[in-house]
Order: sequence, then structure tokens, then C-alpha cells
Amino acid sequence: MKVIWNSQIVEREEVKIDPEDRGYQFGDGIYEVVRAYNGKFFCIDEHIDRLYTSASKIEMAIPQTKDKMKRLMNQLLEESGIETGNLYLQVTRGIASPRNHVYPDLSVLPTITGNITVVPRDAEKIKAGIKTVIEEDIRWLKCDIKSISLLGNIMAKHEAHKKNAEEAILHRDGIVTECSASNVAIVKDEVIYTHPDSNLILPGVTKIVWLKCAEKLGIEVKEEPFTLEQLNESDEVFCSSTTIEVMPIHTINGYAVNGGKIGEVTQKLAKAFEEEIE
Ligand code: PDD
Repeated sequence: MKVIWNSQIVEREEVKIDPEDRGYQFGDGIYEVVRAYNGKFFCIDEHIDRLYTSASKIEMAIPQTKDKMKRLMNQLLEESGIETGNLYLQVTRGIASPRNHVYPDLSVLPTITGNITVVPRDAEKIKAGIKTVIEEDIRWLKCDIKSISLLGNIMAKHEAHKKNAEEAILHRDGIVTECSASNVAIVKDEVIYTHPDSNLILPGVTKIVWLKCAEKLGIEVKEEPFTLEQLNESDEVFCSSTTIEVMPIHTINGYAVNGGKIGEVTQKLAKAFEEEIE
């Protein structure tokens, strides 16, 4: 299997990760997950832009230009022959020895790795929706950086998994932020509410797409924080990410949303999103 390694495409077996790579030692790195549909990346420019924004927020200089990165990604996709799948792309601050919390100087080059796996669309699941639980948002205060340090996220997701749910809806002091690996929105009286982009959430690429869909459909969206109370009183709830698209939520903490029936606004948005990827 071919993978991206720094500025080349190589066989996976050729990749060597150093024990003193800062990604490995400190979680000092950033990443993107980019979806491919029908042999083409979806929203590739938005993902590349966010990757470079994350890098600049942690004073990391990616030596490749955005164009070069895009060429590498497209080359990998082409060589893989994969039609529908996920690219995981990671950039760490590189290898620095001896271990030192302070950033090394810019002569230390980042380590870049990327691999694609086949992941078919799960249209049935997008129709049926998922179960969720509510968890406290225990993460740090720079959730806008797509950091590879994901302990807070994976702990929440694991709690959800233990409770037989697929996603954790996170809240900070009663304000709903996002989910462990997706953005979240509620619908009340046909208006969509979702947390505005800030340091408390990841600015989702999928959210950019569904916001445009909502505009086209004439659905009002309020990008403003909402509370757990509003969540519990909402008509519809959905989450969104590159891997799950616009995903209805039918159960929260064991209680059925809208009597367990997927609401119309969510259905319309999921359909409009599907039309975008075709
Ligand atoms: N997660 N919020 C969090 C915490 C996320 O991890 C993600 C995506 C999103 C949605 O972002 P986007 O629409 O750009 O995928 C929001 C990816 C898919 C992951 O970690 O696997």
C-alpha cells in the first residue's frame, strides 16, 4: 500500500517513525481527514486551508506549498485506485533530540504522513441516525486547532461507546459545544442553532457545506451557543463531519428525539449534502 511520507509517495513499509518524533512524544502535531467520493477529494481546498491554519496557530512551518500538498494528496489517491475512502493526513513538528518541551528551531522539518483507506458511504445509517450521550467537555481551550492530541475527545467517545452510543454531545457548563468527533446542531421551530466558530469548537468543513445547503433551501440558521435545556427541548438534532456527513441523532441519553422520528429539516439537509458530493 502506498502512503505519503514527507514530500513523497512511498510503500507503507518504507516509512520509519523515530521514537523522538514530537508527534509521537508530545502529541505535537495536526491532522486532517479528507473524504474521497468517486475517485475525487471532496472540499480538498478547505481541508488544506484548515491544515495550514492549524499549523500557523502552533508556529509550525510546513515546508511544502499548499499546491504541492494538494498534488501529493491527489497523486496518492490516484495511485491507490480508491474511489470512496478517507485520507488521514498528519503533520508533526518533526524529530528533535534530546526531548525538550521547547519548540526546536525551524531547521527541524515536520514529519508528514498520509494514508487512504476504503470507507464506503453508509446511506442506511444516515437515514436511520445514531444514538448519543451527553458528556462534559473536558478538552483544552484551543479546540479550533485540529490537534492530534485527542485524549479528551477519545475519552468522551469511549464513554459513549461504553453506553452503547456512537457519539458524545459535549457541553461546557451547560453550553453545548460540539461532539467528540463532529459538530452538532439542533432544530427548533424550523430554525437551526449551532455553536459559532470559536476556540471551543473545530470549524468543520462539513458544516461549511451544510450551511450553504441551508441557505439554498431557505432554512434559517443561527450560529449561536445553545444550552443543554435547549438541546432537550429541540425538535431535531444532528451532527456533521467528513466521515459521517449530515447525521441525524435519534436518541440522547436514552431519550428519543422527536419520538425517534428523523425530522424534516435534517432529512432535507442530508439530502442536499448528498447532492453536493455527487
Ligand atoms: N473529525 N469537531 C471535531 C471535534 C472533529 O473531530 C471533527 C472531525 C469535526 C467535523 O469537522 P469536519 O466536518 O471538517 O470533518 C468537528 C474527523 C473526521 C476525525 O477526527 O476523524
